[in-house]
Amino acid sequence: MIAVLGSANMDLVTEVARIPRPGETVAGHSLRYYPGGKGANQAVAAARLGAAVAFFGKVGRDPFGDRLIEGLRSDGIDVSAVAHVEEPPTGTASIWVERSGENAIACVPGANGAVDVAYAARVFDRIAAADVLLLQLEIPLATIAFVLERLPRERPIVILDPAPAQDLSGLPLDRVDILTPNQTELSLLTGIDGLEPAARRLLSLGVRGVVCKAGDQGAYWIGEITTHVPTIAVRVVDSTAAGDAFNGALGCAVTERPILEAIRFANAAGALAATRHGAQPSLPRRADVDRLLASAAESTGSPRGED
Ligand code: RIB
Repeated sequence: MIAVLGSANMDLVTEVARIPRPGETVAGHSLRYYPGGKGANQAVAAARLGAAVAFFGKVGRDPFGDRLIEGLRSDGIDVSAVAHVEEPPTGTASIWVERSGENAIACVPGANGAVDVAYAARVFDRIAAADVLLLQLEIPLATIAFVLERLPRERPIVILDPAPAQDLSGLPLDRVDILTPNQTELSLLTGIDGLEPAARRLLSLGVRGVVCKAGDQGAYWIGEITTHVPTIAVRVVDSTAAGDAFNGALGCAVTERPILEAIRFANAAGALAATRHGAQPSLPRRADVDRLLASAAESTGSPRGED
């Protein structure tokens, strides 16, 4: 079972020709409401790829909250531990998406900010019983620290997505099995330019392995040695939640196959998410991911998509 402790947002997505500069107004083409939030997205990604998933978090007692929970439930996710709070309201994210697929996001945490230590203590036993725990940074850091400090050493496998990037010095990083920053987050987290030295700095703080997500370049695994895992080229329409698709898929695959194979699978899930609009509507199913991997293998003549 995969446990996800994290955020759920309603995404308010405006399609623009280009993201406005500070002080500038641009015309938007459409406004759409999509279920999102890094935690909920990762839960949906893992569930659509076939994992049994339980989501832990909070939403407001409001129509956005109801819609988000209904969506998670329709993907077969166990939402029995999700709390509904009177105040604050459900988290929201204002997202601009350019025609190029590039985006800019501003989140109002709302109920996600109320995922506090008391809540984590209530659900802790269920989280600790999972095989894999997916975490991100859209709930209070103190809550994440509380959970990491109390987890048994050997189980669950902890995958922490350090997004949005923030100071991790208060977290027991030696209880993180895999940290999955993108390149920007990696340099923000460490103050070091250069993928290899920045990732090695995180390893020196106790993280067991780093997967650096590199968009159309694929990903880099930095463990004992550094390995580049290329991805499959796709036509990008909206990169929102591509990183979440990657993390949900990694959470699924990490118990099924060796790490480089798991990253290859996660790359394919992330690539597919970028070919569709919205956060949760864009997240692929296992058959889609398998098909993309098989077509890449066919075009390279390699049995499993290796280069
Ligand atoms: O990672 C994408 C997500 O970030 C969006 O769904 C939005 O809600 C923000 O949390």
